[in-house]
Amino acid sequence: MTSVLITGANRGIGLELSQQYVAKGDRVYACCRKPDAAEKLSALASKSNGALSIHTMDVSSEDSIKACAEELSQVPIDILINNAGVYGGEHQSLGDASLEDWLMTIQINTIGPFRVAEAFQQHLKSAKSPKMLTVSSQVGASTFSMPIYAYSSSKAAVNKVMQILASEWQQHGISVSLIHPGWVQTDMGGPDAAITPKESAEGIRRVIEKMDMTNTGSFFKWNGEIHPW
Ligand SMILES: NC(=O)c1ccc[n+]([C@@H]2O[C@H](COP(=O)([O-])OP(=O)(O)OC[C@H]3O[C@@H](n4cnc5c(N)ncnc54)[C@H](OP(=O)(O)O)[C@@H]3O)[C@@H](O)[C@H]2O)c1
Repeated sequence: MTSVLITGANRGIGLELSQQYVAKGDRVYACCRKPDAAEKLSALASKSNGALSIHTMDVSSEDSIKACAEELSQVPIDILINNAGVYGGEHQSLGDASLEDWLMTIQINTIGPFRVAEAFQQHLKSAKSPKMLTVSSQVGASTFSMPIYAYSSSKAAVNKVMQILASEWQQHGISVSLIHPGWVQTDMGGPDAAITPKESAEGIRRVIEKMDMTNTGSFFKWNGEIHPW
């Protein structure tokens, strides 16, 4: 049975991925920062026959990430999905940027996935063909220049972090890639977004299926195409 760890699993794309992996028959370790408030995830856990367990993880806190890694210390992780992320608030244009919000955005979107990778390295190494996918965004690519300074720079930075990690983990046989999940109808994407969470998660799962050591270090689109850096 494939074991899948997902961060930010309580809503949006993370919740949909959790649902789809449970439906597929996989074992899901669903992480979120407030399990007590995660009603939809709890409902999914209750009807999953033990296929989904919920674990506390705030990706802005190194202690929280380490505690979760310790709790799951005996569990090999086949697929790790760094999905948790924030948009970074409304104040991120020229002349209006909040430094406090910007730093928190970097903390969650960039340093969070790095710390998660660090803490779960052994869990990945003890799996047969481990894969780690980080949910980035097209706005982090050099081909985009939307004036959303905090969010865009946090995603550009996580792209670089994962590109370096892909190279470092080549020797361990851990495939590391990034994905733009599409413009998705979630709290972050809004109701007018182009695709549903279901479509996005189906695409993300298809990309994960084809991840291996020949394409490690790639930046994918949710539809399987390669995204330009
Ligand atoms: N939706 C889009 O159009 C779109 C486009 C490009 C990229 N993305 C990326 O896709 C990923 C998922 O986004 P989404 O659309 O599903 O957004 P969403 O509906 O706003 O969900 C965000 C998720 O991240 C979690 N999260 C935020 N801060 C966290 C923290 N410090 N620790 C742990 N979890 C935290 C949230 O948990 P709480 O409920 O506790 O806040 C929530 O589960 C993000 O990385 C986002 O940047 C989305």
